[in-house]
Amino acid sequence: MEQSVKKQFEDYIKLIEQKLDEFLPVKYPQEIWESMRYSVLAGGKRLRPMLCLETCKVLSGSYEQAIPTACAIEMLHTQSLIHDDLPCMDNDDYRRGKLTNHKKFSESTAVLAGDALLSFAPQIIIQKTPDSVSKDKVLKVLEEFLISAGAEKLIAGQVVDIDSEGKQIDKETLNFIHENKTGALFKLSVRTGAILGNADEKTINALTMFAEKMGLAFQIMDDILDVTSTLEELGKTPGKDAKEQKVTYISFYGLEESKKQVASLCKAACDILEENNIKSEVLTGVVKSISERVC
Ligand code: IPE
Ligand code: IPE
Ligand code: MG
Ligand code: MG
Ligand code: MG
Repeated sequence: MEQSVKKQFEDYIKLIEQKLDEFLPVKYPQEIWESMRYSVLAGGKRLRPMLCLETCKVLSGSYEQAIPTACAIEMLHTQSLIHDDLPCMDNDDYRRGKLTNHKKFSESTAVLAGDALLSFAPQIIIQKTPDSVSKDKVLKVLEEFLISAGAEKLIAGQVVDIDSEGKQIDKETLNFIHENKTGALFKLSVRTGAILGNADEKTINALTMFAEKMGLAFQIMDDILDVTSTLEELGKTPGKDAKEQKVTYISFYGLEESKKQVASLCKAACDILEENNIKSEVLTGVVKSISERVC
């Protein structure tokens, strides 16, 4: 990645982490807030909030209005990770280079920390979005957020993912899983950034297609790294998909073909930006970081 893009990534990450810290206080009872903060502030690539901020900035020239939404999306993403790691789900011991929430605290605390993040995140959108954003827009963002988090999107993907373990499923079902468990939050990030950046319908549709390609590439790469990477690099245990008998792109197409699909999806994502005259080093940088990703 070019130095100038790297610097923009670092600046965004710094801002996102500072705001997440500010938005997430420690209240009584302390343990629940501390467990929420433990997972949210544990690092992570912060790709989703970055996409939200940058999309808003590219369209309107400023990202300030999108900061609460970007942080709310990162809280939702973290909630999905805390619950994804539970023994009744993927049963993982490590996340973001640290013990998973239920290992560090307890299973009941991890369930409740996820629940708490899920309801705290939309509160942040309502309470912290500046008054310069119209209430209509806040409502639209909230609707997108709640649909993406729920049984029509993210949860739908997770349910079919868990239900498909050890089974023969077709490619349509595999794509349904990836589109919903992962693609939905990528789409949410750019769509809310676009709404807050006053985008027209055509631009929102183009960005939605961009995120669709990127989200699928991201999950295929996640499945590839589960086979090829290490705990140190990933910050989570590799080899989990085979152990849990998940159906992945690798089990369908093999490693080499899966890598080719990532490359072609990343190219398609960048082409969509170009065709629609959306110029952003950060958006193309995120796509590039997916194809070059090691963690
Ligand atoms: C992990 O997402 C969950 C998937 C959708 C594969 P990330 O790889 O973006 O996790 P963090 O936020 O960087 O920890
Ligand atoms: C990620 O799928 C989907 C969500 C967390 C919603 P994975 O189960 O593959 O994610 P990792 O590999 O545990 O991060
Ligand atoms: Mg999972
Ligand atoms: Mg998992
Ligand atoms: Mg995975």
